Amino acid sequence: MASQRSTTAAVEDMTATVAATGASFWERAAAWYGENRVAAWTIAGVTVVVVAGGSVYYLRPPPKVSELDKKAKKERRKGKEKRTDGAADQAAERTAAPAPMQPAAPPPPAAAVEEAGEELPQVTEATVGQLSDASRKDYAAKLKAAGNKAYGAKSYERAIALYTQAILCKPDPVFYSNRAACYNAQQNWPRVIDDTTAAIALDPEYVKALNRRANAYEQDGSFSEALLDYTASCIIDQFRTESSAQAVERLLKKVAEAKARAIMAGKEKKLPSPTFVSNYLQSFRAKPLPAGLDEAADLPADSGKWHLRKGLQAIAHRTGEGYAEAATAFDRAIDLDDLGPHEAYAFNMRGTFRYLRGENEAALHDLNTSITLDPALVQSYVKRASMHLEQSNREQAAADFATAMENNASDPDIFYHRAQLHFILSEFSAAATDYQKSIDLDPSFIFSHIQLGVTQYKMGSIASSMATFRRCIKAFGDKSDVYNYYGELLLDQQKYQEAVEKFETAVEMERKGVGERGGG
Ligand SMILES: *[C@@H]1O[C@H](CO)[C@@H](O)[C@H](O)[C@H]1NC(C)=O
Ligand SMILES: *[C@@H]1O[C@H](CO)[C@@H](O)[C@H](O)[C@H]1NC(C)=O
Repeated sequence: MASQRSTTAAVEDMTATVAATGASFWERAAAWYGENRVAAWTIAGVTVVVVAGGSVYYLRPPPKVSELDKKAKKERRKGKEKRTDGAADQAAERTAAPAPMQPAAPPPPAAAVEEAGEELPQVTEATVGQLSDASRKDYAAKLKAAGNKAYGAKSYERAIALYTQAILCKPDPVFYSNRAACYNAQQNWPRVIDDTTAAIALDPEYVKALNRRANAYEQDGSFSEALLDYTASCIIDQFRTESSAQAVERLLKKVAEAKARAIMAGKEKKLPSPTFVSNYLQSFRAKPLPAGLDEAADLPADSGKWHLRKGLQAIAHRTGEGYAEAATAFDRAIDLDDLGPHEAYAFNMRGTFRYLRGENEAALHDLNTSITLDPALVQSYVKRASMHLEQSNREQAAADFATAMENNASDPDIFYHRAQLHFILSEFSAAATDYQKSIDLDPSFIFSHIQLGVTQYKMGSIASSMATFRRCIKAFGDKSDVYNYYGELLLDQQKYQEAVEKFETAVEMERKGVGERGGG
């Protein structure tokens, strides 16, 4: 069972795993979609969201099923059913509506009645090798039919034994999924997960198996895995199955709440996943190394400044090791205390990493020190504001934004982060104004554009939103994030084909390594 901390991390890590293993397009899209939403909530101060009753969603709840949609879905499935061996019960199995929260699976179809008097084949691992292809196929069908019958009679052990033999004859996703249904009835969640995983490996678009696995994960307390599976099933199913769509919203809230609870309990003492750290760090515009700490500067080895620079350089690797190295380097830099004019910056960075490690009091203390040392370093106010937000301290957060503004009213990061706060509070009009201001001050930061597009979308200005994204593709066409976000909005509008094209572009770019995620 996943711990609270690891629930969010699991979502993020899964994105990395999916990217690294070249997993199916669906898994990858779901991982991106799920992670992105969880990260957006968490970064913007998830507590606010949770306190507000979880009423803020990144995208509007999925639309209801319409007859038209059902028709489109049927068309799309035609090819798929042909690919499997076309048995009526398989088709039924694949298109039946899922019932995620109920441990029972559908009764076997009428077609699966065992022929009277006919002996069932007995297949074992030892004997299956001696069978011809034709007999294997024949035996598999018979065993499966008998399995369905046993399942219908609630003889789960017998059904499991029959499906197991059928699988020996022919590893078919439906057999695995049916055996999973038996384990489901026995509430044996780990076995359900194993079998549905096998089914999904054979057929990545097997919605029913995905929903069944999602339910097992949820029952087992692995909320982020459940979130991913339901999200994948929603995407494949074009958001037409309401129970799955509701499950996504339910789990999104569970995962975000678990994260918030863990943060508030101060339990997170290690860095979250690299994806999460990157997401957080890249929400600030990238800055060159400060004067005096540049590559060429000749710094005494093992001095405070030397460690500060080492930390800043390690961040640029965007890897788990790089971030761990940076965290250590910032700790060391401050311990050595020969930082001169860079002391405020060092406290800012140590505070940032302490915050990411969940050491909130210590982080806040570092940012206070940084602000005392250099009241003009506006990034410190902005970071402190998000820490205040996590403690549901809106007034202090607002005060920090105001002080930041007094210090430098032309720092685009202030507007970007204030916009994020407005966004999460559903103050979309104010958010759009701030994103626009951030863009006016510095148009080179991709996320201001993307977020503006998303905000316009939330305000119902679909045309402006799409125009913002098209402009964005022109300006930042080399960043996969643009395509991911654009795809997400198109998906939300049921522009399925276009959405898939955008996601595919993003996948292709990331695969080739040209589409590194946005940021400065
Ligand atoms: C940091 O400063 C704020 C004032 O903005 C104060 O409320 C808070 O107690 C201070 N925290 C620490 C840990 O010093
Ligand atoms: C204000 O912020 C902008 C953008 O980061 C920067 O170029 C400028 O130098 C800052 N002004 C002051 C007075 O620090």
